[in-house]
Amino acid sequence: MISCKSNKLYPFLLTLLLSFFTVFSSFAQGEEASVSKDGVTAGAASGAGDAQVQAGAALFKNNCASCHALNEKLVGPALKDVHKKHPLPWLISWIRNSSKMVQSGDKAAVAIFNEYDKQQMPSFALSDEEITSIVKYIEVESATAATAPTGTPANDQAAPAATDGPGGAGAGDASNYLHVILIALIVILIVMVIVLLIIANLMKDYLRGKKDLDGNDLELVDQRFDFSKVYKSRAVQVIVGLIFVVVLTDIAIEETYGVGLQQGYQPRQPIAFSHKLHAGEHQIDCNYCHTSVYKSRSANIPSANICMNCHSQIKKESPEIRKIYTAIEKNRPIEWVRVHNLPDLAYFNHSQHTKVGGIECQTCHGPIETMDVVYQFSPLTMGWCINCHREQPLNTEGNKYYDNLVKIHDEVNKGAAFTVSSNGGTECSKCHY
Ligand code: HEC
Ligand code: HEC
Ligand code: HEC
Ligand code: HEC
Ligand code: HEC
Ligand code: HEC
Repeated sequence: MISCKSNKLYPFLLTLLLSFFTVFSSFAQGEEASVSKDGVTAGAASGAGDAQVQAGAALFKNNCASCHALNEKLVGPALKDVHKKHPLPWLISWIRNSSKMVQSGDKAAVAIFNEYDKQQMPSFALSDEEITSIVKYIEVESATAATAPTGTPANDQAAPAATDGPGGAGAGDASNYLHVILIALIVILIVMVIVLLIIANLMKDYLRGKKDLDGNDLELVDQRFDFSKVYKSRAVQVIVGLIFVVVLTDIAIEETYGVGLQQGYQPRQPIAFSHKLHAGEHQIDCNYCHTSVYKSRSANIPSANICMNCHSQIKKESPEIRKIYTAIEKNRPIEWVRVHNLPDLAYFNHSQHTKVGGIECQTCHGPIETMDVVYQFSPLTMGWCINCHREQPLNTEGNKYYDNLVKIHDEVNKGAAFTVSSNGGTECSKCHY
């Protein structure tokens, strides 16, 4: 039989394999670089691998992304190029305590405060380095955004992704790595098949050139390419098996980690009710419909009667409005699909946050007044709750109850803000019975 001892073939194969691995490994590294930063900062520090920028990206994501994006206005202004608008020392004192700056009469601070209807940005107990790294991140990201405008979040859906909570990161990473492995395996498989075909053809050509072949050999050389050999090949079987396992693991991981992580959840509602139209364009107060949100634990969903305050007159003929009439006639409530839902083991109280804590609905629910259909803006994980409690200064002014506590706190932690957690807001029993 024929034994292949072609010396020309090996260098050729070696070059082929080498070039393939170079291409592949650079591809894989590129993937990992963006994966490790949770997609939010994809591309920001690629190449540079700058630790400072990465730290800034993480800080931004945890502290700022609920209110700020780079290229669009959320609760606060878009922060693209903000490092050009204000000098670094200004930014540091602004982020640390914006209301102090407004009170001190700083022109730029008062201007932006008034522009945003005197909404207060929370204070952040961050160090100079930490704030500098956030600004650095904004700088790098602004530059990338300028060169690659397609990478900017253009629609509302992009917003929740940008605030992926701490709880989501682990699952996201694991499954992203699996995606990389999966792509790699498929690429290897394809390349293997191609290489095998090339080798076979080269060998055939080589053999045909030889004069001393007998009948059997010739038959073998002229044999048509047989796919069943490819299926039966051990290497191909192993790789196909691996791909199968990776796909299954991937699905399993997303299923288990994904429980309770409903960020971005946007169910279809039975009536095409739009917050953009009602709360946005017509500026109806949230409180007009969600009447208990400042008073009690839960924010209620309005009954059909509240809709009728207006729709007994407005748009009576619209088929969507007819659905409200039908509900009332049949004495059946409208079956709104619940968007936000904490598990029973956690205790959350609206009035404690909206009335006592003075937190805007948008901080947790995002720009509801721009949503045609409501989606879950925040991750609603334990990490998300606790992060805010660690950062959010408690409004203790004019409340005698706190005076003593604040004094003790200030003596122990010089300069650090008196946050919700300073008052025990990260104790398990506060949120779990
Ligand atoms: C709860 C919402 C909220 C959070 C969280 C938040 N901001 Fe703001 N930010 C605002 C609002 C609102 C304004 C507009 C000024 C005002 O009304 O006080 C603002 C203004 C700013 C400005 C001035 C922008 C300009 O155009 O002059 C900067 C800079 C800024 N924020 C940076 C940050 C950084 C950095 C973080 C994270 C450490 C952060 N903000 C977190 C709401 C927020
Ligand atoms: C005209 C009445 C009306 C006004 C005004 C209104 N809402 Fe709603 N809201 C509803 C109705 C009806 C639903 C249930 C249907 C849906 O999810 O769209 C709802 C649902 C919601 C939900 C999701 C509830 C869930 O299922 O988890 C949130 C969050 C919310 N509103 C916040 C707000 C905020 C914030 C404002 C003010 C900016 C506001 N709403 C103003 C009527 C109103
Ligand atoms: C304070 C007044 C007010 C209340 C309360 C109110 N709406 Fe409306 N609604 C409006 C106005 C104004 C429009 C816009 C009418 C127009 O476009 O001409 C509108 C439009 C709509 C439309 C779009 C109708 C169409 O075919 O264009 C729907 C659907 C709707 N409302 C549902 C509801 C539901 C459901 C509720 C109760 C949860 C409700 N509205 C409560 C004032 C109200
Ligand atoms: C500190 C964060 C936070 C703030 C601020 C906040 N919410 Fe919520 N909201 C939540 C959470 C968490 C849930 C889910 C509660 C649950 O499942 O028990 C929720 C649920 C809701 C629901 C569904 C009904 C319910 O009570 O479960 C509505 C409606 C709602 N919020 C409206 C509002 C409105 C209107 C405001 C502003 C006046 C507001 N929220 C402010 C965190 C917040
Ligand atoms: C955007 C910031 C923010 C988020 C997010 C947030 N909280 Fe809070 N929370 C506060 C503030 C501020 C207070 C303090 C209110 C006060 O007493 O002045 C508070 C107080 C509390 C308290 C009372 C603590 C005490 O010492 O009595 C509980 C319980 C609580 N939050 C639960 C939750 C849960 C559960 C979540 C997540 C589902 C959550 N919070 C998310 C800001 C937040
Ligand atoms: C500020 C509020 C808050 C505090 C403080 C808090 N938790 Fe939670 N915890 C939550 C919320 C909200 C959830 C549900 C989140 C989810 O489903 O992802 C939760 C979920 C859990 C779960 C279930 C996890 C799961 O995946 O189902 C456990 C266990 C838990 N917490 C333990 C603790 C312990 C132990 C402490 C004290 C060290 C603590 N929690 C402090 C809000 C809090």
